[in-house]
Amino acid sequence: MRLQRVAVDALWLLLCCGWAMANPAPELDEDCELNSIDTMHDFCCDLHDESPHFSHCQMEWHEKIHYRTDQEEQTYMFCTAECTFNSTDFVGSNRQSLDLAAVREHLESELANDEDEALLYQTYSQCEKHALSLLPHKSVKLLAKRMASFGCHPFAGLVIECVANEMILNCPAKRFHQTPQCVETRNQLRQCKQSLK
Ligand SMILES: *[C@@H]1O[C@H](CO)[C@@H](O)[C@H](O)[C@H]1NC(C)=O
Repeated sequence: MRLQRVAVDALWLLLCCGWAMANPAPELDEDCELNSIDTMHDFCCDLHDESPHFSHCQMEWHEKIHYRTDQEEQTYMFCTAECTFNSTDFVGSNRQSLDLAAVREHLESELANDEDEALLYQTYSQCEKHALSLLPHKSVKLLAKRMASFGCHPFAGLVIECVANEMILNCPAKRFHQTPQCVETRNQLRQCKQSLK
């Protein structure tokens, strides 16, 4: 009886850890990811800085969406994200995939370090999958509906949000901006991941 119990425990451990190793991409809880922590505008890592495209799109969409509520602000942010990806040609023509060749080219011209490039490239490709997996979720569908009236799609925003999260969590220590805001956001993200365990 006791032996059986040990065997079951061992099997469970094997399944659990096998799963964890097969899924190295950290999955954040949808609620903390989408509704509690807004990282899209937090540039906390030198490797992932605000681009001129992003600033330009922020201004453009600020004109179009005069947000007053959190929901409207989220719509504004996600349209800004798609606008940014449109202008860098990061997003495929179906608006639900990344043009990873364009991403690589951009990273090569932006970052002068192979390791940095590899880290970000891997993050983008992992976040493409993560964003796709979030699209069918209820809160994302509601967001998509609100965005549709402005001609925007949430995929790009989900990717940017994911990349921002990952770069806050995985930024090389020396390149992390030790501001109170960035440190606080990093703590929240860690808790968000912790809450899933
Ligand atoms: C991005 O480009 C697509 C395809 O041209 C367009 O339909 C969409 O409205 C653009 N999105 C934004 C936010 O400008």
